[in-house]
Amino acid sequence: MERAVWFMSTRHALITGGAGFIGSHLVDELLKRGFEVTVLDCLLPQIHGDAEMAADGWPVYLDRAARRIKGNILDDGVFVSSLDGITHLVHLAASVGVGQSMTNIADYTRNNTMATAIMLDVLSRSGHGVERIAVASSMSVYGEGEYWSAAAKTSLAPPLRSDEQLRRRSWELTREGDGSTETLEPVPTKEEKPLHPASIYAINKRDHEEMFLTVGRALGIPTTALRLFNAYGSRQALSNPYTGVAAIFISRLLNGEPPLVFEDGEQQRDFVHVKDVAEAFATVLESDKRIWGAFNVGSGRSVSVNSIARTLARLLRKNIAPRVLNQYRVGDIRHCFADVSRIAETYAFRPRRDFEGGMEELISWVTTARKPIDRSSRSMAELSHGRMVV
Ligand SMILES: NC(=O)c1ccc[n+]([C@@H]2O[C@H](COP(=O)([O-])OP(=O)(O)OC[C@H]3O[C@@H](n4cnc5c(N)ncnc54)[C@H](O)[C@@H]3O)[C@@H](O)[C@H]2O)c1
Repeated sequence: MERAVWFMSTRHALITGGAGFIGSHLVDELLKRGFEVTVLDCLLPQIHGDAEMAADGWPVYLDRAARRIKGNILDDGVFVSSLDGITHLVHLAASVGVGQSMTNIADYTRNNTMATAIMLDVLSRSGHGVERIAVASSMSVYGEGEYWSAAAKTSLAPPLRSDEQLRRRSWELTREGDGSTETLEPVPTKEEKPLHPASIYAINKRDHEEMFLTVGRALGIPTTALRLFNAYGSRQALSNPYTGVAAIFISRLLNGEPPLVFEDGEQQRDFVHVKDVAEAFATVLESDKRIWGAFNVGSGRSVSVNSIARTLARLLRKNIAPRVLNQYRVGDIRHCFADVSRIAETYAFRPRRDFEGGMEELISWVTTARKPIDRSSRSMAELSHGRMVV
C-alpha cells in the first residue's frame, strides 16, 4: 500500500492555462487519479476579469490541492522554474478566440506560436524530468470538415466556400460534375483529412500541434496533440464574447436577448462535454504507449447551431427564438464533426456524456454563477469594423 502511494505521488503534472475552463477540469481529474498538480497561469483579464476569485486571487473553482504559479509562459524563466519535479506536461495556455485572432494577429501569434517556441527551447536546452506531453490542438486546424460525394463515390476535403458563393447566400458545399451541381454530404472528419486552417487562431493551433510533435519526437518524449471539438460545461467564461457558442448563447438568453446565428443556423458542429475532454487528456497522460500523433476529441455526434440555441432556450425556460442573421463570417466553415475512432482504437478512450444531459448540467451551473454580461455587440462591432462579417 505504502509502495502504491509512493508510486502515485511521483507523477506530477504541470498544466499551463490550468486556471481556465478546460484546465481546471483537468486539475480535478488528475488529482482524482493520484497526480500531484501544478498550475501555471497568468490569469488573462479577458478570461478571468468577471470571474469569482478567492482571497488568494485565483478562481474559486480551482481545487486548493493544486499548486499555483501565477506567471506568463512567454517568460522562459517562469517556465524553467515551474518544471521543477514535473513528470507530465499539459500545454493548454492560449488565446482562444477564432474571430478575435483575425483582428489581433500579432497578439495571438505571440501568445500562441511564440510562447510555444519559448517553451520548446526550454524543454530542449534545460535539464528536466518531463516524460510525457499532451498539447491542446483544435478542430479548427481542419478548416472545412470532411464530405462525401455520392456521384464520385469518394470522400472529399473541400476548400472554404468562395466569396462569390457566400455572397449569393448559398451555404452548402457543392461539387460541379457532368453538367450538374451536387450538394455534398457532411460526414465525420478523420485525422487524415488534409489541414486547411482558416484563421490565425487555427494556424496557431496547427503550430502548437506540429511544433510540440516535432520537438517531442526529437527529445524522445511521447507527445500527443488532442484536436478538441467544441467543449462545453461549467466554468466557461460566460462574459467573454470570443469564446464558445454555447457560452455566448447562454449569456444572450440570460440577458433576454436572442442568440445571434450566422448563415441559416443549420451548420453542424460537435459539442463535447468538458469532463470528457479532461478524461481524454488524463487517459493520454496515463498511457504507457510511446506515441507521437494527433487525435480527435469530440462526442462523435453532430448538432446544428439552431438546435443548440433552441435547446438552451428551452432549458433556461426562455421563450426566445434565435435570430438568424443570414450573414456570414469570413473564414467560417459550414460543417465539422469528429470521427472519434482513432483515439478509441489507440487509447481505448470514448466520450461518456450525452448532449442533453451535458447541457442540463451546464445550465444548472449557470444559474448558480454570476449573471454574465452580454458583450456580443462589442465583438460584432469589432468583426464588422475588421470587415470580417458580411
Ligand atoms: N474550449 C474549447 O472548446 C476548445 C476547443 C479547441 C481547443 N481548445 C484549446 O484548449 C485550450 C484551453 O482552452 P479553454 O477553453 O480552457 O480556454 P481558457 O481561456 O478558459 O483557458 C486558457 C487559460 O490560459 C491562460 N493563459 C493564456 N495565455 C497565457 C500565457 N501566456 N501564460 C500563462 N497563462 C496563459 C488564461 O489565463 C486561461 O486561464 C486552449 O489551448 C484552446 O486553444 C479549446
